Amino acid sequence: MIKHTHDNKMKKRIVILPGDGIGAEVTAEGRKVLERIAEIFGHTFEFDNALIGHAAIEKTGSPLPDATLNKLKSCDAILFGAVGHPKYDNDPTLKVRPEQGLLKMRKELGLYANLRPIKLFDQLLGASSIKPEVLKGSDILFFRELTGDVYFGEKGRMNENNTAYDTMIYHRYEVERIAHKAFQAARTRRKKVTSVDKANVLESSRLWRETVNQVSREYTDVALEHQFVDAAAMKLIQNPRSFDVVVTGNLFGDILTDEASQIAGSMGMLASASVGDKVGLYEPIHGSAHDITGKGIANPLASILSAALLLDISFGMKEESNAVINAVEQTLAEGFRTVDIAEKDTPTEKVLNTHLMGQRVCGKIHQKETIHS
Ligand code: IPM
Ligand code: MN
Repeated sequence: MIKHTHDNKMKKRIVILPGDGIGAEVTAEGRKVLERIAEIFGHTFEFDNALIGHAAIEKTGSPLPDATLNKLKSCDAILFGAVGHPKYDNDPTLKVRPEQGLLKMRKELGLYANLRPIKLFDQLLGASSIKPEVLKGSDILFFRELTGDVYFGEKGRMNENNTAYDTMIYHRYEVERIAHKAFQAARTRRKKVTSVDKANVLESSRLWRETVNQVSREYTDVALEHQFVDAAAMKLIQNPRSFDVVVTGNLFGDILTDEASQIAGSMGMLASASVGDKVGLYEPIHGSAHDITGKGIANPLASILSAALLLDISFGMKEESNAVINAVEQTLAEGFRTVDIAEKDTPTEKVLNTHLMGQRVCGKIHQKETIHS
């Protein structure tokens, strides 16, 4: 018998990588939201879990076991939590480390472009430590290069362990491909790209700038400006509205996006997408947060908004993605908060734990128009 399916109903395989710390708590809510979307829109999402980070080291000795990598290479999208464990942070002698799992995964899957949208929900204007009138209307899209730079350049110790080095290195093709992505995105937005480097000091930044300038000739409809990273760090807080698309290297992007998270009220709100030529990976920009692990108070909205990015970018499900974003917006509009985004005057009954926040959002997911007549 031939099973009749509408061609807008899709079957997709998603791997969940909870990782460490609050990773498991927040991805559980991200998954719930995806399940709700499948239910409402008639899609079939198959889920599989795999190990990464400290959790994987404990069980297998490796931060990214082959079994995990194989699953990732054959799925349609990845929802990732976080990696890291305090035991490694002050012990440089430990050679096998949770973060290696994340870095290896980015490299192996060719996830060279990390999109970090910084969008402030109006309801959270008061949750940031930056003045509301400075913040209002901020909407920045970061393109952080993710598989090059000092993260992957040659590193080591020498001089009888008295000297250590990391190499900041960029190849022209690496800058070209991320620059193209940034310019293409700018075309769909306010048509401005700010490229951030340290070209007054670093040779790799001079190659970066030269290459971005060359790529920009193919996008004459998009305005390009260059900023040094120190000045950009200042301007982000001074006048966040002056930015549209920002493109920068791996290390500068890591630092600037944590800073920029304050423009969105909290780290707990920020989602990210890592894409390249194959499968896409979606994750909060926050880390494993061991100080609050197991307390059930972590903000799941970054993971939920990562799920929204997944639907949009990897599955082309714009309507489904918007349904998730709208649900988050409505939940915030009704006054519900997790502790990290609660304000002094938030009534205690509106401060939700991780699980209840996820549940609230799920309850607000609706299909705009019914597809069936
Ligand atoms: C991030 C994280 C990672 C990074 C760490 C955990 C290796 O801070 O995704 O921003 O530096 O890229
Ligand atoms: Mn980071």
